[in-house]
Amino acid sequence: MSQRILVWDIPTRVFHWTLALSFAGAYLTAETERYRDLHLALGYLMLGLIGFRLIWGVVGSRYARFSSFTFRPSEIVAYLKSLLRRHPKHYLGHNPAGAVAIFLLLGLGMVSAISGVLLYLEVGGEMFEDLHEGAANLMLAVVVIHIAGVVVSSLLHRENLVRAMVTGYKSGDPKQGITRTFSWLGVIMAAIIAAFLAFYQPSGSGTSGERGTQSMHHED
Ligand code: HEM
Repeated sequence: MSQRILVWDIPTRVFHWTLALSFAGAYLTAETERYRDLHLALGYLMLGLIGFRLIWGVVGSRYARFSSFTFRPSEIVAYLKSLLRRHPKHYLGHNPAGAVAIFLLLGLGMVSAISGVLLYLEVGGEMFEDLHEGAANLMLAVVVIHIAGVVVSSLLHRENLVRAMVTGYKSGDPKQGITRTFSWLGVIMAAIIAAFLAFYQPSGSGTSGERGTQSMHHED
Protein backbone atom coordinates (compact mmCIF):
# COMPACT_ATOMS: atom_id res chain seq x y z
CA MET A 1 0.00 0.00 0.00
CA SER A 2 1.45 3.32 -1.11
CA GLN A 3 1.17 6.38 1.12
CA ARG A 4 2.80 9.77 1.52
CA ILE A 5 5.94 9.05 3.51
CA LEU A 6 8.84 11.17 4.75
CA VAL A 7 12.17 10.38 3.03
CA TRP A 8 14.38 13.48 3.30
CA ASP A 9 14.91 15.08 6.71
CA ILE A 10 15.10 18.87 6.99
CA PRO A 11 18.93 19.17 7.38
CA THR A 12 19.38 17.25 4.10
CA ARG A 13 16.96 19.59 2.33
CA VAL A 14 18.51 22.75 3.82
CA PHE A 15 21.92 21.39 2.82
CA HIS A 16 20.80 20.64 -0.73
CA TRP A 17 19.19 23.94 -1.63
CA THR A 18 21.83 26.04 0.13
CA LEU A 19 24.59 24.09 -1.62
CA ALA A 20 22.86 24.53 -4.99
CA LEU A 21 22.48 28.29 -4.43
CA SER A 22 26.01 28.76 -3.12
CA PHE A 23 27.50 26.88 -6.05
CA ALA A 24 25.44 28.90 -8.55
CA GLY A 25 26.37 32.15 -6.76
CA ALA A 26 30.06 31.29 -6.46
CA TYR A 27 30.21 30.31 -10.13
CA LEU A 28 28.51 33.49 -11.31
CA THR A 29 30.73 35.73 -9.17
CA ALA A 30 33.99 34.01 -10.10
CA GLU A 31 35.12 36.41 -12.81
CA THR A 32 34.33 39.83 -11.38
CA GLU A 33 36.48 41.69 -8.90
CA ARG A 34 33.42 43.52 -7.65
CA TYR A 35 31.85 40.41 -6.10
CA ARG A 36 35.07 38.89 -4.80
CA ASP A 37 33.95 39.01 -1.13
CA LEU A 38 30.66 37.32 -1.96
CA HIS A 39 32.52 34.70 -4.01
CA LEU A 40 34.79 33.96 -1.04
CA ALA A 41 31.87 33.84 1.41
CA LEU A 42 29.95 31.39 -0.83
CA GLY A 43 33.06 29.23 -1.17
CA TYR A 44 33.45 29.01 2.63
CA LEU A 45 29.74 28.29 2.89
CA MET A 46 30.09 25.40 0.44
CA LEU A 47 32.98 24.04 2.45
CA GLY A 48 30.99 24.25 5.69
CA LEU A 49 27.93 22.66 4.09
CA ILE A 50 29.89 19.75 2.64
CA GLY A 51 31.69 19.31 5.99
CA PHE A 52 28.28 19.08 7.65
CA ARG A 53 27.03 16.62 5.00
CA LEU A 54 30.00 14.32 5.58
CA ILE A 55 29.01 14.06 9.25
CA TRP A 56 25.27 13.79 8.45
CA GLY A 57 26.07 11.03 6.00
CA VAL A 58 27.21 8.95 8.99
CA VAL A 59 24.85 10.01 11.78
CA GLY A 60 21.82 11.33 9.84
CA SER A 61 18.48 9.70 9.14
CA ARG A 62 18.08 6.53 7.04
CA TYR A 63 18.14 7.92 3.48
CA ALA A 64 20.66 10.66 4.29
CA ARG A 65 23.26 8.06 5.36
CA PHE A 66 25.97 7.22 2.86
CA SER A 67 25.45 3.54 3.65
CA SER A 68 21.94 3.81 2.11
CA PHE A 69 23.33 4.97 -1.23
CA THR A 70 26.70 3.27 -1.55
CA PHE A 71 26.26 0.77 -4.37
CA ARG A 72 28.48 -1.91 -5.87
CA PRO A 73 29.70 -1.17 -9.44
CA SER A 74 27.54 -4.10 -10.67
CA GLU A 75 24.43 -2.42 -9.20
CA ILE A 76 25.33 0.87 -10.89
CA VAL A 77 25.76 -0.87 -14.26
CA ALA A 78 22.52 -2.84 -13.80
CA TYR A 79 20.68 0.39 -12.97
CA LEU A 80 22.08 2.19 -16.03
CA LYS A 81 21.06 -0.76 -18.24
CA SER A 82 17.54 -0.74 -16.80
CA LEU A 83 17.46 3.01 -17.43
CA LEU A 84 18.28 2.43 -21.11
CA ARG A 85 15.44 -0.09 -21.31
CA ARG A 86 13.27 2.66 -19.77
CA HIS A 87 12.30 0.43 -16.87
CA PRO A 88 14.65 1.49 -14.11
CA LYS A 89 14.35 -0.15 -10.72
CA HIS A 90 12.74 2.18 -8.19
CA TYR A 91 14.68 3.34 -5.13
CA LEU A 92 13.06 5.29 -2.33
CA GLY A 93 16.33 7.06 -1.51
CA HIS A 94 19.02 7.94 -4.08
CA ASN A 95 19.31 5.57 -7.03
CA PRO A 96 22.76 4.16 -7.98
CA ALA A 97 23.34 6.59 -10.88
CA GLY A 98 22.23 9.55 -8.78
CA ALA A 99 24.50 8.38 -5.98
CA VAL A 100 27.56 8.48 -8.27
CA ALA A 101 26.72 12.09 -9.22
CA ILE A 102 26.23 12.98 -5.55
CA PHE A 103 29.62 11.62 -4.48
CA LEU A 104 31.23 13.43 -7.43
CA LEU A 105 29.51 16.69 -6.48
CA LEU A 106 30.61 16.40 -2.85
CA GLY A 107 34.20 15.60 -3.89
CA LEU A 108 34.43 18.32 -6.54
CA GLY A 109 32.80 20.81 -4.15
CA MET A 110 35.52 20.08 -1.58
CA VAL A 111 38.30 20.35 -4.17
CA SER A 112 37.01 23.65 -5.61
CA ALA A 113 36.47 25.21 -2.20
CA ILE A 114 39.77 24.07 -0.65
CA SER A 115 41.81 25.02 -3.74
CA GLY A 116 40.03 28.41 -3.65
CA VAL A 117 41.13 28.98 -0.06
CA LEU A 118 44.72 27.96 -0.90
CA LEU A 119 44.66 30.27 -3.91
CA TYR A 120 43.45 33.11 -1.75
CA LEU A 121 46.22 32.40 0.77
CA GLU A 122 48.71 32.44 -2.12
CA VAL A 123 49.90 28.91 -1.47
CA GLY A 124 51.03 26.95 -4.52
CA GLY A 125 50.47 29.68 -7.16
CA GLU A 126 49.29 28.64 -10.64
CA MET A 127 48.75 25.04 -9.60
CA PHE A 128 45.77 25.88 -7.39
CA GLU A 129 44.43 28.38 -9.88
CA ASP A 130 44.14 25.66 -12.53
CA LEU A 131 42.78 23.13 -10.04
CA HIS A 132 40.23 25.64 -8.73
CA GLU A 133 38.91 26.49 -12.18
CA GLY A 134 39.08 22.93 -13.46
CA ALA A 135 37.20 21.49 -10.46
CA ALA A 136 34.52 24.21 -10.66
CA ASN A 137 33.97 23.64 -14.40
CA LEU A 138 33.84 19.89 -13.94
CA MET A 139 31.38 20.41 -11.12
CA LEU A 140 29.18 22.50 -13.41
CA ALA A 141 29.18 19.64 -15.93
CA VAL A 142 28.18 17.15 -13.20
CA VAL A 143 25.45 19.55 -12.00
CA VAL A 144 24.01 19.60 -15.54
CA ILE A 145 24.08 15.77 -15.66
CA HIS A 146 22.59 15.68 -12.13
CA ILE A 147 19.68 17.92 -13.10
CA ALA A 148 19.11 15.94 -16.33
CA GLY A 149 19.15 12.70 -14.28
CA VAL A 150 16.60 14.13 -11.85
CA VAL A 151 14.30 15.09 -14.75
CA VAL A 152 14.66 11.70 -16.49
CA SER A 153 14.08 9.70 -13.27
CA SER A 154 11.10 11.89 -12.38
CA LEU A 155 9.53 11.22 -15.79
CA LEU A 156 10.27 7.49 -15.89
CA HIS A 157 8.96 6.87 -12.38
CA ARG A 158 6.17 9.47 -12.64
CA GLU A 159 7.50 10.85 -9.36
CA ASN A 160 8.35 14.51 -8.82
CA LEU A 161 11.82 14.25 -7.27
CA VAL A 162 12.31 18.03 -7.08
CA ARG A 163 9.14 18.40 -5.05
CA ALA A 164 10.33 15.56 -2.81
CA MET A 165 13.61 17.40 -2.17
CA VAL A 166 11.51 20.45 -1.14
CA THR A 167 8.79 18.80 0.96
CA GLY A 168 10.73 15.71 2.05
CA TYR A 169 7.85 13.43 1.02
CA LYS A 170 7.54 10.65 -1.57
CA SER A 171 4.95 7.97 -1.92
CA GLY A 172 5.74 4.49 -0.70
CA ASP A 173 5.30 1.82 1.93
CA PRO A 174 4.64 3.55 5.30
CA LYS A 175 7.07 1.14 7.00
CA GLN A 176 9.91 2.53 4.84
CA GLY A 177 9.51 6.18 5.82
CA ILE A 178 11.66 8.05 8.35
CA THR A 179 9.99 9.24 11.53
CA ARG A 180 12.03 12.31 12.48
CA THR A 181 12.45 15.54 10.50
CA PHE A 182 15.23 17.02 12.70
CA SER A 183 13.65 20.43 12.21
CA TRP A 184 15.57 21.85 15.18
CA LEU A 185 18.82 21.14 13.33
CA GLY A 186 17.43 22.75 10.16
CA VAL A 187 16.65 25.90 12.17
CA ILE A 188 20.16 25.95 13.66
CA MET A 189 21.67 25.48 10.18
CA ALA A 190 19.57 28.29 8.69
CA ALA A 191 20.52 30.61 11.60
CA ILE A 192 24.25 29.84 11.23
CA ILE A 193 24.12 30.34 7.44
CA ALA A 194 22.22 33.65 7.75
CA ALA A 195 24.58 34.92 10.49
CA PHE A 196 27.65 33.88 8.48
CA LEU A 197 26.47 35.67 5.34
CA ALA A 198 25.44 38.77 7.30
CA PHE A 199 28.65 39.13 9.30
CA TYR A 200 31.29 37.63 7.00
CA GLN A 201 34.33 39.85 6.59
CA PRO A 202 37.11 38.64 4.31
CA SER A 203 40.30 38.27 6.35
CA GLY A 204 42.32 40.14 3.75
CA SER A 205 39.99 43.18 3.52
CA GLY A 206 41.09 46.72 4.36
CA THR A 207 44.70 47.76 3.84
CA SER A 208 45.98 44.24 3.24
CA GLY A 209 43.03 43.41 0.98
CA GLU A 210 45.16 43.38 -2.16
CA ARG A 211 46.66 39.98 -1.32
CA GLY A 212 43.81 37.77 -2.32
CA THR A 213 42.76 40.06 -5.15
CA GLN A 214 46.12 39.79 -6.85
CA SER A 215 46.41 36.09 -6.38
CA MET A 216 42.95 35.40 -7.78
CA HIS A 217 43.31 37.56 -10.82
CA HIS A 218 46.99 37.86 -11.46
CA GLU A 219 46.57 37.33 -15.16
CA ASP A 220 44.57 40.59 -15.47
C1 HEM B 1 17.90 23.51 -10.08
C2 HEM B 1 18.91 22.77 -9.67
C3 HEM B 1 18.79 21.47 -8.94
C4 HEM B 1 17.75 20.60 -8.81
C5 HEM B 1 16.37 20.73 -9.38
C6 HEM B 1 18.20 19.50 -7.99
C7 HEM B 1 17.43 18.43 -7.59
C8 HEM B 1 17.84 17.42 -6.78
C9 HEM B 1 17.03 16.31 -6.37
C10 HEM B 1 15.60 16.09 -6.78
C11 HEM B 1 17.77 15.51 -5.58
C12 HEM B 1 17.34 14.18 -4.98
C13 HEM B 1 17.63 13.14 -6.00
C14 HEM B 1 17.04 11.81 -5.60
O1 HEM B 1 15.84 11.77 -5.38
O2 HEM B 1 17.82 10.85 -5.51
C15 HEM B 1 19.08 16.10 -5.46
C16 HEM B 1 20.11 15.60 -4.70
C17 HEM B 1 21.34 16.22 -4.59
N1 HEM B 1 21.76 17.32 -5.30
FE1 HEM B 1 20.63 18.49 -6.49
N2 HEM B 1 19.51 19.70 -7.66
C18 HEM B 1 19.90 20.89 -8.22
C19 HEM B 1 21.12 21.48 -8.15
C20 HEM B 1 22.17 20.95 -7.45
C21 HEM B 1 23.46 21.57 -7.39
C22 HEM B 1 23.85 22.89 -8.06
C23 HEM B 1 24.22 20.77 -6.61
C24 HEM B 1 25.65 20.92 -6.20
C25 HEM B 1 26.35 21.94 -6.39
C26 HEM B 1 23.41 19.66 -6.19
C27 HEM B 1 23.83 18.65 -5.39
C28 HEM B 1 23.05 17.62 -4.91
C29 HEM B 1 23.47 16.69 -3.91
C30 HEM B 1 24.83 16.66 -3.20
C31 HEM B 1 22.39 15.84 -3.69
C32 HEM B 1 22.29 14.73 -2.66
C33 HEM B 1 21.48 15.29 -1.51
C34 HEM B 1 21.82 14.60 -0.23
O3 HEM B 1 21.59 13.41 -0.07
O4 HEM B 1 22.34 15.30 0.64
N3 HEM B 1 22.17 19.80 -6.73
N4 HEM B 1 19.09 17.26 -6.22
